[in-house]
Amino acid sequence: MLFIFSCILLHLASLTIAQTNLLDHNCPNDVGNYTTNSDFQRNLNSALSSLDSNTQIDYGFYNLSVGQPGPDQANVIALCRGDIGVDECQNCIGNSLAKILQVCPKQKEAFGIADTCILRYSNKSIFGVMEDNPVYILYNVDNATDVNQFNQGLQTLMTRLRSTAASGNSFQKFATGNETAGFVIIFGLVQCTPDLSELQCDNCLAGVIRVIGQLVGSQGARITAPSCNLRYEIYRFFGVTPATIQLPASPSPQSPSVSPPPPPGKKRNSARTIIIIVVSTVIVAILISCLFIYLRIKKPKERVESK
Ligand SMILES: *[C@@H]1O[C@H](CO)[C@@H](O)[C@H](O)[C@H]1NC(C)=O
Ligand SMILES: *[C@@H]1O[C@H](CO)[C@@H](O)[C@H](O)[C@H]1NC(C)=O
Ligand SMILES: *[C@@H]1O[C@H](CO)[C@@H](O)[C@H](O)[C@H]1NC(C)=O
Ligand SMILES: *[C@@H]1O[C@H](CO)[C@@H](O)[C@H](O)[C@H]1NC(C)=O
Ligand SMILES: *[C@@H]1O[C@H](CO)[C@@H](O)[C@H](O)[C@H]1NC(C)=O
Repeated sequence: MLFIFSCILLHLASLTIAQTNLLDHNCPNDVGNYTTNSDFQRNLNSALSSLDSNTQIDYGFYNLSVGQPGPDQANVIALCRGDIGVDECQNCIGNSLAKILQVCPKQKEAFGIADTCILRYSNKSIFGVMEDNPVYILYNVDNATDVNQFNQGLQTLMTRLRSTAASGNSFQKFATGNETAGFVIIFGLVQCTPDLSELQCDNCLAGVIRVIGQLVGSQGARITAPSCNLRYEIYRFFGVTPATIQLPASPSPQSPSVSPPPPPGKKRNSARTIIIIVVSTVIVAILISCLFIYLRIKKPKERVESK
């Protein structure tokens, strides 16, 4: 009993870790670096903390700009997966911005990918600009049984989702769906940042869909570019998407307040974390042995990055 209980706890712990770590990140060294207490750092911290404390936006897309246009302006974009609620979205963004400042401590440009959100910032303007590079691929090492049939179904699904997402509105460009391919049902999701035009979104998605071709017959993958992304699996991984996207009461997101910023990034998921911490030392000992068993059983997912 205790053993099973421990394994459940461990699984919960690994889920929490997966949730709070970035899946990937990119901070180019050739764009420019900033120093502590520089104007850029002040603008960035201000933008990130307004993002973190925002309670007005409920459609999962945040774009903020702090400072005068030029080398010290901080432009920030955050995008949550279209099917998650505002609380989960804020959790994901809060965790991601804390992490991104750790892994990209001085670069003026950064791109972080988390499980259900992405975060970007730069000193150049990034709103309404389609960016399909770099592309990050996370794929399942297990292949489909009938690769040809699978890929055909996948292409059909992606083509359909791409046009649905591209024709979305300026608050959300997102689509999910499924397609039967032989004995399996493929579940797919595509999304663009909604600041893109229909054509920009369509082009961006065409690019990430093309990358599927590199995977041969993988059963599942996430392909993420700064402006758009896709995911497919042979199980349902997304929630119910409202048939009609709920538009916010105020049509345009407010500009950020430039008040002295608290250091961004609060610890969230406290309830879950507490459950994990309140474990007696006896269970911890079992947990460690369980960890070894778990790691041996768990099949690692491989990751490939390409630019
Ligand atoms: C920024 O810092 C990195 C790491 O210290 C360095 O390699 C890079 O050349 C710097 N970039 C610029 C533009 O100075
Ligand atoms: C961003 O900062 C870098 C380094 O300070 C600078 O070379 C570049 O011109 C800036 N970009 C813009 C759009 O101001
Ligand atoms: C999946 O297919 C690729 C390419 O054919 C192959 O290299 C890989 O080993 C396969 N994976 C598994 C788990 O069989
Ligand atoms: C597949 O999508 C259709 C709508 O296009 C939906 O009615 C159906 O429930 C979905 N199937 C599964 C297994 O989710
Ligand atoms: C943020 O995006 C919204 C919707 O796409 C747009 O109306 C607004 O002008 C953008 N804000 C900034 C600061 O660019």
